[in-house]
Amino acid sequence: MLNPEDFIITRKRKKYKFAKFANSPICYELDEWSQRPVDVIEIGAGNGLFSVEMAKRFPQIQFLALDVKGDRLQKGAYEATNQNINNIYFLRARADQLASICHPKSIESIWITFPDPFLRRRSSGRRLTNSYFLKIYQQILNSNGALYLKHDNRDFFCWSLEQLVINRWRIEELSFDLHESNLVDSYKIKTTYETRWLEDGLTINFVKALPPLS
Ligand SMILES: C[S@@+](CC[C@H](N)C(=O)[O-])C[C@H]1O[C@@H](n2cnc3c(N)ncnc32)[C@H](O)[C@@H]1O
Repeated sequence: MLNPEDFIITRKRKKYKFAKFANSPICYELDEWSQRPVDVIEIGAGNGLFSVEMAKRFPQIQFLALDVKGDRLQKGAYEATNQNINNIYFLRARADQLASICHPKSIESIWITFPDPFLRRRSSGRRLTNSYFLKIYQQILNSNGALYLKHDNRDFFCWSLEQLVINRWRIEELSFDLHESNLVDSYKIKTTYETRWLEDGLTINFVKALPPLS
């Protein structure tokens, strides 16, 4: 039986999460962000717990978890604060704003973790691995930089591989079953969605690609 009070509480909870985002000193809106130095960006980070774990393992590297949803990002921010992890920021912004978020050729790694696949053909312009976004990533990655993509959906993943190849990106590492592969352990740090898909018995597709040689 549905209780209308639950909905009111849910909405309040969302506002509460936005307030937590606003109150955290490591969470930023775009107009508060002044191109701080960053090495690694996770795009569509959700709650950012993957980046938090990466930041914990690699304290000498500066991480940025980026998502359009501040109520999700705040979760990772409080986790990082509780664990005294000081090398991570959280930014509420869209992927197409990346060129105003970091300096050209300044980024070492871009992670795209389980982006919404937008499977309808007419929605392909919204996929974070289409040619438009790949050009933005190319602008901000440095000469040794790399793009990392993880996804459960094989059709979306193969479409993304095609986009990389068409745009002359170089495939350096590839697996259609990341967690059974010999690839390095840090690639296997699980995002929240990844944990869910693995529990459902799905395998995880993974690619590391280098930008085109200019
Ligand atoms: C399927 S969720 C995956 C979340 C997380 N990476 C994970 O694996 O648990 C996709 C996330 O991408 C974010 N997103 C979608 N489009 C975006 C865009 N253009 N720029 C930044 N984030 C975006 C959504 O808000 C959502 O949190």
